[in-house]
Amino acid sequence: MKIGKVNCLKGEVSIPGDKSISHRSIMFGSIAKGITEITHFLQGADCLSTISCFQKMGVEIENRGETVLVHGKGLRGLKKPETILDCGNSGTTTRLISGILAAQNFNVTLTGDASIQRRPMNRIIDPLTQMGAQIKSLAGNGCAPLSITGSPLHGIHYMSPVASAQVKSAVLLAGLYAEGETAVTEPALSRNHTELMLKGFGADVSSQKTTASIRPAKELYGQKIKVPGDISSAAYFLAAGLMVPGSEILIRNVGINPTRAGILTVCKKMGADVSLLNQCFASGEPVADLLVRFGPLHGTTIEGEIIPALIDELPIIAAMACAAEGETIIRDAAELKVKESNRIEVMVRNLSAMGADVTETEDGMVIHGGRPLHGAVIDSCLDHRIAMTFAIAALQAEGETEILGADCVNISYPEFYSDLNSLSQ
Ligand code: S3P
Repeated sequence: MKIGKVNCLKGEVSIPGDKSISHRSIMFGSIAKGITEITHFLQGADCLSTISCFQKMGVEIENRGETVLVHGKGLRGLKKPETILDCGNSGTTTRLISGILAAQNFNVTLTGDASIQRRPMNRIIDPLTQMGAQIKSLAGNGCAPLSITGSPLHGIHYMSPVASAQVKSAVLLAGLYAEGETAVTEPALSRNHTELMLKGFGADVSSQKTTASIRPAKELYGQKIKVPGDISSAAYFLAAGLMVPGSEILIRNVGINPTRAGILTVCKKMGADVSLLNQCFASGEPVADLLVRFGPLHGTTIEGEIIPALIDELPIIAAMACAAEGETIIRDAAELKVKESNRIEVMVRNLSAMGADVTETEDGMVIHGGRPLHGAVIDSCLDHRIAMTFAIAALQAEGETEILGADCVNISYPEFYSDLNSLSQ
C-alpha cells in the first residue's frame, strides 16, 4: 500500500466496535444461559477467531454483521472441540479463553499464528496453575501451543507483576468456576471491561482500587450488548486531525472508559484541541463524539499508571510526538515489547526511516519532535497498530510511504483505509 501527503482531513467518521468488548461479549455470552444479542460487534479477524473457538465448543453463534446472536450454553455447557482451537493473532482470545478452559471437564490444545507463538503465556500459566489448573506450553518455551486439561480450581489472591487486563481477566474467568473467592491485584489499573460486563451478566464481581475480586457463579444470564466504538481505532483519526495542518474531524461513537482514555489526557497535555460532545452510556460504558482540530502540539512525558490506559495507542502517540515541538519521553512501557510485534523496536526503526529523531530506551523511547518526516518503506511486521500508525504519519510526510503487510489492519479495523480515504482532501 502506497500513501502520499494530503492537504488536510475533513469530515466525520463513525468508529467500529471496541475489540476488547466484542471479544468479551462472545465469551461471556457463550457461557451464559439464554441468548446474548450484540450490536455494533467488531468484525475484525481477532474477534472472528473468538467466535470460531466457541463455535468449535458447540456454541451456536449467528453472525449477521452488525448484530451477532450468541445462543449461550451456560457455565457448564461447553463441549470438547474436535480440533485444535486456533486463536489466530489474538492475545485476548488466547489468554481469556485459557481462564475458561482451565475449569472445563475436557482437555484441549490451543494455538495461534507465528506472532501468538512468540508471546509470553507464563503470565497466565503461573496464576492458573496456582488455582489448580493443568496447563502447559507444548514447546516448553512459555508460549502457545498450550495444552489445557480442565480441573477443579480454588480461589487465590494473585499479585500480578504486570498491569494486564488479559491476565486479570483470565484469572477472574477461572474464578467464576473456582471454590472460594478469587482476587487479582495489579501494579496499576488495566482496562476494566471484564469486571463491568461480567457484573452485567450476573456475576458477583467487585473492584477496589487496583484489586478486582470474584466469587463463583451458579449461572450467568444472556444480555443485550451495544458495543461502543473503539478508542484504540479512533486514536488514528485523533492523531491525523492533530498532525495534518488545516484538519477538522468529528469522530463519532467513541468509548471513553477512563481505563482506556489515557490518550485524551495526553492530547490535553500536548496542547491539542479535542472536545468531547454528546456524552452518554452504552451497556455501562461511557461514550462520546470527539471533535478534533489541527493546532500546534508540544512534547510531554508519558509514564507511570497512565501507561495501561493508553498501551495500544503508544505507537500513534509516538508518531504524534514527531509532529510536536520539543521532547517527548515515553517510559514504564516495556510491555510494548510483547505485543503483536516488539513495538518499541519497530516504532523506533520505522520512525527513524522517515527522518524522525527518536531513541530507543529500555522501557520506551525519547522523541525530539519538529523535524519534518519524509516517505519511506515501512515494514508493518504484520502488526495492525504499526500499519495504521504509519498510514497516518505518511499523510504529512514529504513524498510517498509504502507500507508492507498493510492488510493486517483487518485484525482490528477492516474499513480503516476506506474511512481514511473518505476524510482526505
Ligand atoms: C486487551 C488488553 C491489553 C491490550 C490488548 C487488548 C484486552 O493487553 O494491549 O490489545 O482486551 O484485555 P494487556 O492486558 O496484556 O496489556
